[in-house]
Amino acid sequence: MAANIKRLLVTICAAALIALTVSCAGLDKPIKNSSAANINAEKRILSVLEEMSKDRKYATWNITKEEGRLLRILTAAAGAKNIVEIGTSNGYSTIWFCLALRTTGGRITTHEIDPYRIEIADKNFKKAGIRHLVTIVAGDAHENVTRLKEPIDILYIDADKAGYFDYFKKLLPLVRPGGLILAHNTIDLASEMQDYLKAVTNNPELETIILLKQPSGLSVTLKKRR
Ligand SMILES: C[S@@+](CC[C@H](N)C(=O)[O-])C[C@H]1O[C@@H](n2cnc3c(N)ncnc32)[C@H](O)[C@@H]1O
Repeated sequence: MAANIKRLLVTICAAALIALTVSCAGLDKPIKNSSAANINAEKRILSVLEEMSKDRKYATWNITKEEGRLLRILTAAAGAKNIVEIGTSNGYSTIWFCLALRTTGGRITTHEIDPYRIEIADKNFKKAGIRHLVTIVAGDAHENVTRLKEPIDILYIDADKAGYFDYFKKLLPLVRPGGLILAHNTIDLASEMQDYLKAVTNNPELETIILLKQPSGLSVTLKKRR
């Protein structure tokens, strides 16, 4: 009997000691399962992208899923903090960038001239839970980009094709050494952007490759470090 009481007392003391240790370490508080939260946030974004890719109600001229995945990979690999996009449309490519920006702690500024598309993009950003990562600049990007001042990690051009060279000229000084300039439709609509293509392939300070040739051509230009 006495032995049983002794065993019970030892067990109670041990339990009290463990409880004290756990409490001091703060482990008694509910553990926020950040990885589960992250997985859920990513699922939410991917499901919005999936929904958008099926929505064919109006012309959105979106990139493909494959191209979106490339944007995400480049953003994450570059640890990009500041992305500038020309041509938001309904926000499909912007949301692909945001999948990576969530983890790099970065943000994207995206330009769109069409008020209807801006409204749709705004709704999609909210639905995907990434609205806080995006600044939408409404109006003609040829004018609006001249107000940008911060160094750019990734510049993504996907608006009026004949305007690519103008965007490039205005923003190249802001692209940081080691930063990237991405351009869409560099194969299927190459004839409309010859000046741009010459500029990014002839400049010795740049290195350009067309990474995804199908279906439209997505070019990647590195602004070399000196
Ligand atoms: C090809 S779509 C962009 C697609 C989008 N990047 C995506 O993949 O989800 C081109 C967009 O550029 C916009 N745009 C065309 N000219 C523009 C300009 N001068 N300034 C701002 N946006 C412009 C169009 O209204 C259109 O929504």
